[in-house]
Amino acid sequence: MSADGKTALRTRRQTHISNEEDKRRVHKLRNSSDAILVGVETVISDNPKLTVNPKYVKRPRHPLRIILDSKGRTPKNALVLDGTSKTLIVTNEKCKKVFPNAATTRCGKQEVDLKKLMRILEKKGTRTLLVEGGSKVIWSFLRSRIADEVNIFVGSMVIGGDKSPTPAGGAGAETEKAIVALRLRRMKAVGNGVLLTYEVVK
Ligand SMILES: NC(=O)c1ccc[n+]([C@@H]2O[C@H](COP(=O)([O-])OP(=O)(O)OC[C@H]3O[C@@H](n4cnc5c(N)ncnc54)[C@H](OP(=O)(O)O)[C@@H]3O)[C@@H](O)[C@H]2O)c1
Repeated sequence: MSADGKTALRTRRQTHISNEEDKRRVHKLRNSSDAILVGVETVISDNPKLTVNPKYVKRPRHPLRIILDSKGRTPKNALVLDGTSKTLIVTNEKCKKVFPNAATTRCGKQEVDLKKLMRILEKKGTRTLLVEGGSKVIWSFLRSRIADEVNIFVGSMVIGGDKSPTPAGGAGAETEKAIVALRLRRMKAVGNGVLLTYEVVK
């Protein structure tokens, strides 16, 4: 995020917040994860590839790409469907859509039921899951206390705007009890930015 806590432009379009050192960190983290997960809005607005860039990691192992997409809105030409690594589209139980170059799992009645999905992934052998966004998905993982650790890179810039996305969006906490407490574990300068690592208090 930027120094003022924004993760994209006010149009919700992606912008470069990371520096080279942080990109290297992210690609190493991707490479050491069994799977990378994003929400369908991130696929629609950013069209990420979600692979490990060989520029940063020699002999990348490309984790499983997972998209939370209850109604099957992932565009057929999205880069996550390019076949360069495995992709799993997770829809709700009503959705009948199938996608080229991707497996599908149906899970939950409305939006994807995350606790159920974690059990499915565990059975498939997934032990480490990297949730890369966007803000609604991150809030879902924090609210349900499924996430164990939060890593926030703070880039040296201000994006501004009341409507620009922030790291955790969704409905947010309505009461103090619903606030997700974090324990600061590490702070590290990464190039001209800062990496904050927190443990989620459960
Ligand atoms: N700076 C960064 O590091 C970074 C990283 C990623 C994204 N972003 C930015 O984040 C923005 C997109 O974030 P967003 O909050 O709009 O959307 P998002 O979190 O990418 O996707 C949310 C969508 O996922 C689907 N979903 C299915 N099950 C869900 C569940 N259990 N919990 C939450 N969502 C579920 C829902 O759509 P359905 O109802 O259709 O299933 C929901 O609307 C973009 O502007 C992007 O540029 C920034």
